[in-house]
Amino acid sequence: MPASPPRETLRAHGQEQVLRFWDELDEEARAALVADLEAVDFDQLAELRGGDRSEKVDASKAVPPAGLVTTPRTDEQRDEWARARTTGEELLAGGKVGVVLVAGGQGTRLGYDAPKGTFPVGPLSGASLYEVFAKQLLARSRRAGRSVPWFVMTSHATHAPTVAFFEEHGHFGLDPADVHFFQQGTMPACDAETGDLLLAEKHRLATSPDGHGGVLTALERAGLLSLCRDRGIERLFYHQVDNPLCRVCDPLFLGLHALRDSELSTKVVPKRSPEEKMGVVVDVDGVTRIIEYSDLPDDVARRTNEAGELDVRAGNIAVHVFDVAFVERLLEGGGASLPFHVANKKVPHLGESGNPVEPETPNAHKYERFVFDALPHARNALVLEIDRRDEFAPVKNALGSDSPATSLVASTARSRDWIVAAGASVPDNVPIEIDPLFALDADDVAEKVASGTTFDGPVLLTE
Ligand code: UD1
Repeated sequence: MPASPPRETLRAHGQEQVLRFWDELDEEARAALVADLEAVDFDQLAELRGGDRSEKVDASKAVPPAGLVTTPRTDEQRDEWARARTTGEELLAGGKVGVVLVAGGQGTRLGYDAPKGTFPVGPLSGASLYEVFAKQLLARSRRAGRSVPWFVMTSHATHAPTVAFFEEHGHFGLDPADVHFFQQGTMPACDAETGDLLLAEKHRLATSPDGHGGVLTALERAGLLSLCRDRGIERLFYHQVDNPLCRVCDPLFLGLHALRDSELSTKVVPKRSPEEKMGVVVDVDGVTRIIEYSDLPDDVARRTNEAGELDVRAGNIAVHVFDVAFVERLLEGGGASLPFHVANKKVPHLGESGNPVEPETPNAHKYERFVFDALPHARNALVLEIDRRDEFAPVKNALGSDSPATSLVASTARSRDWIVAAGASVPDNVPIEIDPLFALDADDVAEKVASGTTFDGPVLLTE
């Protein structure tokens, strides 16, 4: 049957202009356009045209989060951390944990064409971000005595090259049956002034990924929440693709999350400066939430406390633990509980007569959900402050801060810390890399590297 466009809906929403090339399209192209249009929720879009639907909070009332947990200072706290580590390891050994990696972003700021996960970050091996995470998972699985399922979220742009990369690398030693790729949804881009849907081609809408907040619906759509239910997976360790120092499945974090009966936990580091581009975890009117850097007024970002520290400084490193039951609860309302944020972006498209338009200034609205908007809905939101040096050095920009260069330096510095803590020594200014299969933390290094060992050049510690 020939494809037929939803003309009534388009008319009702003033979007008939998307059919302006219909008569020129062959059957296949028509079917593609109809499929794109069928994926659009026009009522939702009409609502979004009314403006940003993200909840506006009064950021001037932001205070440090009440649930902030910092390095233990008392015996009681140290005891809790020890119990948390054991609990986390038990959760892993009991098969109660899955890992969600969000890797749908396009890495535009990095100026890298392939999926960001394929970017090399190993100071000596050149291992990719994906490899660094995969090997951590493999190491954790070996210790747990069972595999930890890995849910890798891609987008339209990153899916095929990501899957191909894993295949080329033999899934980095993981059982392919434990690696589940799933694609996030898309949202159409609309002309910022008129609200018109934009065409990328005569038969394709201009669309973009729906933000990492799309992960919740995408997990459900891919049947992965059912998989969790069937296998008794109760917690999801969530992280972003850009931070090679991420401690995947950190037993301490998993354990504290469980012991404190949190539904959604977040790791933070103290922000370095008011300008640093990090969302901040805060309490506003007693509710814990994350305010994205772009939404934080300058005067609030600069406020200091009596000790002269930034008042609002709990920088979100985007490492979370979600209770599966919490995700299911959020989705009961159709996933609509996460609002869309509207961003003004430059979106290339076809002009009135089919001429390609490459805008020089933002011309369109893109719509994204942020996963951390789930935080205000969570019971007992736990916020764990950790040491940046040990766990956070993202690769985001081509140059300057959060770039491949700064991340490499941080990675070597952490390896050096671990080696020095073991009582060994290593010359200054040499690259150092510790394979996750050799050691996952300083304690592992101390077990394997004898105190008094002297390294005299670049160090690559592998299995
Ligand atoms: C993000 C956080 C910020 C945090 C910082 C820490 C947001 C909106 N902000 O900022 O609060 O302090 O990280 O490093 O997240 N992604 C998808 N699909 C999408 C969009 C993004 O999978 O549709 C993934 C990316 O692949 C990446 C991650 O989400 O892994 C972060 O996205 P990005 O837009 O780069 O966020 P940042 O501005 O770095």
